[in-house]
Formats: sequence, structure tokens, C-alpha cells
Amino acid sequence: MQKVGVIPGDGIGPEVIKEARKVLDAVAEKRKLSLEYEEFSLGAEHYLKTREVLSDETLQRLSKKDAILLGAMGDPRVKPGVLEKGVLLRLRFHFDQYVNLRPIKLLEGVPSPLAAHDKKIDIQFVRENTEDFYVGLGGRVKKGLSRTELALKRRTYEAKFDVGVDLEDESELAFQIGVITRQGASRVMEYGFQLAKSRGVKLVTCVDKANVLTEAYGLWREVADDVSKKYGIEKEFQYVDAVALHMVRTPERFKLIISPNLFGDILTDLGAAIQGGLGFAPSGNINPSGVSMFEPVHGSAPDIAGKGMANPVGAILSAGMMLDSLGHKEAAADVERAVESVLKSGKHRTADIGGKTSTSAIGDAIVARLSAK
Ligand code: NAI
Ligand code: MG
Repeated sequence: MQKVGVIPGDGIGPEVIKEARKVLDAVAEKRKLSLEYEEFSLGAEHYLKTREVLSDETLQRLSKKDAILLGAMGDPRVKPGVLEKGVLLRLRFHFDQYVNLRPIKLLEGVPSPLAAHDKKIDIQFVRENTEDFYVGLGGRVKKGLSRTELALKRRTYEAKFDVGVDLEDESELAFQIGVITRQGASRVMEYGFQLAKSRGVKLVTCVDKANVLTEAYGLWREVADDVSKKYGIEKEFQYVDAVALHMVRTPERFKLIISPNLFGDILTDLGAAIQGGLGFAPSGNINPSGVSMFEPVHGSAPDIAGKGMANPVGAILSAGMMLDSLGHKEAAADVERAVESVLKSGKHRTADIGGKTSTSAIGDAIVARLSAK
């Protein structure tokens, strides 16, 4: 029996998670999986009622799960960041989910802005999820001498920074520190190359900007060299600007991309665009030896919440990724195939791609496809 914690969250979160659960139940029946779900009512309602974002007790309960499935966080009644940071970022951090896996696949039947090119887009995008310019270290200084002490605490290491600035004129200065550690880079590279091996990928693309940010991405490259040699898989280095260009012009050339946090954040949104939009993009926040969390890439979309028009495909594919990570490869493949076949038929399209099919009708169609012989 595997245990799944479900956090439907805010806005369209509960609507798309409902469809994902339908699909999970159907595939569990077909493949005789035993999965047990527990719902956690985190999000705006819970916060407004109790003023509590995420308690230690809830974290404790979630830590006993084999995986977490999440809808979306964020509500116009709550100050931006309270829920997004307080729940999402805290969970990612607490469970040290150091890989953000974002498959960028253009499914047949889905219009892409690049569809006219008739490209086969199928990229495994592996983004580092804990370091780089997202470590939250920085400061602002004004004229004169100043010292800022900064501390970086991670489960696996601690570092203190003592930054002295002597600013001579009347100007004001802000700085932000980006951090890459050998250990942090190694573990995400290991994950990426392992994934490349399991999928038979021949060429791994490592993203950076080592020509300008020489220190941080110099170390990133050293680690990439070491790990690629260990796996005997070919790799190439590409600067982030070139990757952006190629993702639009020749996306079919990429099979698996490994990126530091900041560039990965930006490139994966570009990825969501070329795979047909936010509604189609799934993701996993992964700790290969801990609790991983799967969620659609989109947010809570308050503009369409409660109207039954949200596209549930990103959430359903996220549930499929969860099955894969729980070791149910066939069930995961079933889900992906059923989604593809429904989209390919062209009969079921949500409003985001110009159709009229409701959220639940898409879920039903996918369930029907799964259950069909
Ligand atoms: P959003 O992703 O919620 O929506 C952006 C646009 O895409 C909206 O026009 C929305 O209607 C549309 N859209 C999103 N998902 C869709 C779907 N499944 N089907 C059809 N259309 C869809 O991003 P936005 O509007 O910037 O943020 C809304 C709230 O969500 C904010 O509170 C934000 O902080 C939060 N957010 C949460 C995320 C998460 O839970 N991982 C990620 C991004 C934003
Ligand atoms: Mg983003």
C-alpha cells in the first residue's frame, strides 16, 4: 500500500485535482495498484479561517507519505506570496526536492505556437531546484562602508557570507549572491544523467552562462564533465540565450536539458508555451530518496475558477509522473497514452485552446479511454 498526500489548494486546483483523482482511480483498477489517499485542506480557506499556513504537524503527516499531489496555491484574498511561499516553497525546501522535472512534450492534437513547423517536441527538462540565484542571499547598501552578514543553511551544508562594501558616491547598490555547490550540482547532474540512461538519450544538453558568470557556472561545468564521463553519455554545453533561441527554432534537437535554477525557471515557461500552454504542462519536485511532490505548472487561475473550464491535462499528466516515480511504469504510460489519444481525437478541447469541453468532460473522456480494452 502506497500513501499519497493530496493538496488540492486554491482556485482551479481542486477542479483539476478531482479529474486527476478520477484518472488515478481508473488506472489503479486496471493495473491493480493499491494507493491510499489523504486530503490536506491547505490554502486560502484554511488560512483565512485559522491564520495558519502550514503547521509542523501537517509537515509531519506529509512526511509519512510516499508522494504528494498538489493542485495550485494562491488566492486574491490573501497577500501574494503568503500561500505560494508558505506552502509550496516550504514543502519543496522541507523535503529537499532538489530536482524540478518538467517534461516538455507537444502532444498530437494540441496546437502549439510552433505547430506550423510540425516539430516533434519531446524534452525532459531537469531544473536544479535549491541553489543558484534563488538562495535568497543579498542586500542593499548606501554610500559609505557597510557590512552584511548572510547565512545559507541547507540540510547538507551551511555557509556564512560576510560581505563588506565600500560605496564611494551617493548612489545606492543592491546585490544578490548566486551559489552553486559541487554537491548541489552533482546530485542534480546525477539525476539528469540517470534519467538520460533510462530513456536511452544519446546527448544531454547542459545549460549555463559560463562565459560571463565564470565562477558559479565554471563549477557547474566541471561537475557536468565528471558526471557525463561516469555515465559514458555524451553532453554538450550551451549558453542559456542560445538554448532559448533553439527551443523556438529547432526544439526537436533537444532530448534532455539540465539547467541551473534561474535559467531553468525561465526556459521551462518557454517550454510550457511551445507545448501548447500552461494547461498542458506537468511537473515534479523530486527528491529521489525522499518525498516528491507532483503538480501542474499553472497557478490557481482565479480568473476562470469555478467555471468548469480549466484544462485538467497538466494535473492529470502530473499524476502520471507520480505513478512513474512510485514505480508504476506501465500505469504511468497508460495515463499518458490515454491523454494523448483523447487529445488526438480532436473532439475534446478546453477553452484555453479554443474549445468548449468542460474540465470534467475531459477527465471522463480520459477515464473512458483508460477503461476501454
Ligand atoms: P496562472 O497560471 O494561475 O494563470 C495564468 C493564466 O493562464 C490565466 O489567464 C489562467 O486562466 C490561465 N490558466 C492557467 N491554468 C490554466 C488551466 N489549467 N486551464 C486553462 N487556463 C489556465 O498564473 P497567475 O494568474 O499569474 O497566478 C494566479 C495565482 O496562482 C497567483 O496567486 C499566483 O501566485 C499563483 N501561482 C501558483 C502556482 C503554483 O501553485 N504552483 C504557480 C503560478 C502561480
Ligand atoms: Mg516559473
